[in-house]
Amino acid sequence: MRLPETQLALLEGASATESKTVAQLAEELGEDPAAVTGAAFELEETGLLSIEVHASETVALTEEGRRYREDGLPELRLRSAALEAGAGEGPVEMGRVIGTAGLDGPEVDIALSNFARKGYGEIDAGEISLAADPKHDPKADPEAEALDTIADDGASSLEAAILDRLESRELIERAETTVRSVTLTDEGVTALMEGIETAETVGEITPELLTSGEWDTVEFAEYNVEADAETIHGGKAHILRQTANRVKDVLVGMGFQEMEGPHADADFWINDCLFMPQDHPARTHWDRFALDVTPMAELPEGLMERVEDAHRNGVGPEGDGYHSPWDEDFARAVALRGHTTSLSMRYLSGHAIGELEPPERYFSVEKVYRNDTLDPTHLLEFFQIEGWVMAEELSVRDLMGTFTEFYEQFGITDLEFKPHYNPYTEPSFELFGKHPETGELIEIGNSGIFREEVLSPLGVDCDVMAWGLALERLLMLMYGFEDIRDVHGTLCDLELLRNVEVVQ
Ligand code: PHE
Repeated sequence: MRLPETQLALLEGASATESKTVAQLAEELGEDPAAVTGAAFELEETGLLSIEVHASETVALTEEGRRYREDGLPELRLRSAALEAGAGEGPVEMGRVIGTAGLDGPEVDIALSNFARKGYGEIDAGEISLAADPKHDPKADPEAEALDTIADDGASSLEAAILDRLESRELIERAETTVRSVTLTDEGVTALMEGIETAETVGEITPELLTSGEWDTVEFAEYNVEADAETIHGGKAHILRQTANRVKDVLVGMGFQEMEGPHADADFWINDCLFMPQDHPARTHWDRFALDVTPMAELPEGLMERVEDAHRNGVGPEGDGYHSPWDEDFARAVALRGHTTSLSMRYLSGHAIGELEPPERYFSVEKVYRNDTLDPTHLLEFFQIEGWVMAEELSVRDLMGTFTEFYEQFGITDLEFKPHYNPYTEPSFELFGKHPETGELIEIGNSGIFREEVLSPLGVDCDVMAWGLALERLLMLMYGFEDIRDVHGTLCDLELLRNVEVVQ
């Protein structure tokens, strides 16, 4: 029998009576563990070796754990410094003790809380005193000892409780690993006794092998696609970006075209065109980010007059205005858009790309900004999926049908609609979807059919239904996370972002 060198070495190193781990054999043979694992798989395939797999936990000190092992746990350093300062006799001033203990920054809090937890003493009115009989001898602090044990011999002799504690202090890191142990089979023993020759195997084809013609006679090493390999986290598009792109694809597939426009815009486009009265509470402190920049000089004159007229006098013979002030300066003031409905106004008015004839469908998936309070479902900015359909005859059924078709593409089939009020649409509906993990109904969008007071000044004389949906909320329904901050910003859950699979 002929075998590649590593396989033969592994067979010779393995035993028929005692199972040895791949790591142990790799060390004995002076071989790379990955190569030994590969060889073990091949030998298992040919029946010469048997492999047993079990999960094992490895425990390692973190950088902080290693530091405390060197310098001492902060609470112990605090205790020794206090003792030195005479706290054995009575309370001593804390500031001094902290200084002599060499504690700094976050270590001070760590020292104080663990000092108290371990009953080493008390801190009261800026003074520290030592307990006469602490829970355990500070010279044999279980956590300090455990750090030593882990560094020297591993964690196998330690109790789960102490490991949990060290883990919660972020002094150790635990990881699951797969351990493979091998034993010689009867066939393996027989083959060894009959004698095995080594066969040189070639890992990759080279120009030399080709030109010399040797490629024809050499033995090639087989690939083992199941061997453990290092995990490499390459760059990848963020799921929010991926989902935004999918939303665009879906909408383009439904016949929509994409709108573009400024993030910072005149209040005219953000609010006035939408028949939002200028003294509406929403416009004073509706989460508005006003910008201290030059007001927007270029706004379409005729449109501005018609919008002002709608605000003052209403639209049509029955119409009634707001009987509230309307100020051109306010219309020209610039703010970060709180919704992308500003883009819909730019397009519907003909200002963006010229007059539009029904039927038309437009969308955007863009950032909007609101001065909200941060919580699990709110950020100061989010992506809004804006859209509208312009056609001769539209009804609520068209609106609901469009949403049903759109959300179905993302596996969301249990939409709920709730009547709502917007100054610019009538009727209006809020959309809700069920969170896959919590079962809670979460608001995912707002929609409606634009009022005459909006459409008439824009010069649109057919129906327009429109909406603004939250991309992040769609993501929550798709992936089941409960906090928007898991995917956004500095608190984001990197594991989730790395490992989440894109739902297609
Ligand atoms: N602008 C609304 C929002 O941000 C969404 C919307 C757009 C509603 C168009 C109706 C029509 O909530």
